[in-house]
Amino acid sequence: MAWESYLDEARTAIVGAGSGPELEDARVRYLGRKSGLVEALRGARERPVEERAELNRTKGELEELVAARRVQLGQAQLGRALTEEAIDVTLPGEHIPRGHLHLITQIRREVEDVFLGLGYEVFDGPEVETVYYNFTALNTPEHHPARSRGDTFYLSDDVLLRTQTSPGQVRFMETHKPPVYMISLGRVYRPDTPDPTRSPIFHQVEGLAVDHGITLADLKGTLMYLARALFGAERKVRIRTSYFPFTEPSLEFDVSCIVCEQSGCPSCRYSGWLEMGGSGVVDPNVFGYVGYDADEVTGFAFGLGLERIAMLRHGLPDLRALWENDLRLLRQF
Ligand code: DAH
Repeated sequence: MAWESYLDEARTAIVGAGSGPELEDARVRYLGRKSGLVEALRGARERPVEERAELNRTKGELEELVAARRVQLGQAQLGRALTEEAIDVTLPGEHIPRGHLHLITQIRREVEDVFLGLGYEVFDGPEVETVYYNFTALNTPEHHPARSRGDTFYLSDDVLLRTQTSPGQVRFMETHKPPVYMISLGRVYRPDTPDPTRSPIFHQVEGLAVDHGITLADLKGTLMYLARALFGAERKVRIRTSYFPFTEPSLEFDVSCIVCEQSGCPSCRYSGWLEMGGSGVVDPNVFGYVGYDADEVTGFAFGLGLERIAMLRHGLPDLRALWENDLRLLRQF
């Protein structure tokens, strides 16, 4: 048994291999092409049968040892991985802070809900508008100051950033036949220096109703319904005469002061009323631009600022705070 010591040595190396690479080293050393065993086998043709048989037995035994050790090492590694990578599903999770909707988005959705409940449709108009939709088709005379470069951001002679959501009225009527019950909300732009009540970007909601026999009473009732939904059941609404190019008569509407309940306070400048927005009866000239018959239908329109609603409802002294993204402020709403 000349190969017994070779076998012993190889067995020790194979069984003692602590990892895949170590086992591979041992295999190459004792079973590889240059190992003593394989070299001996190569020259074994001339050797006696018993000697060849012993060589083959040794080789077979070593191969089995390697295979067995490989399985053992694989299982050990799997076991280690299972313990090391185990996850304790009972541990508390990592807290991911959750955001919420910006106050203006909340108010926007509230206004949408109010009007969807009244059967209105919500219409989205473009922020980059043409002079035609923003002014001309809204019956705004050529010389009107709102058209000036000091009051409007122009992108070219014919294209501008809308200064109001009112162009949505024209776009909607162009594509819909009466009856019309629509609101349009979104960003508007004006070259104003920011101050507590003005911002070059702000938000408006526009409303338009066109039907047979619409009157000012419908307008006032609708505004009162909106005011009560936003500010509470006790609100009163008042309308005052005003001027807008696209309404005749034109009106501004106020809501009874939510701060002092009309007993007099600085918010309402001791008048008991807070200014909310503009409105009026749709001017027949606007109907002319969209091909409606002014003898058949009448309508009312209104527009107001969402930031103003936020300020009044939450007593915000400065609307710029809404867009400074200070979470200490935004989290309160
Ligand atoms: N667009 C006007 C503004 O920005 C507000 C307004 C007034 C809208 C009268 C209307 C309206 O729909 O009828 O000041």
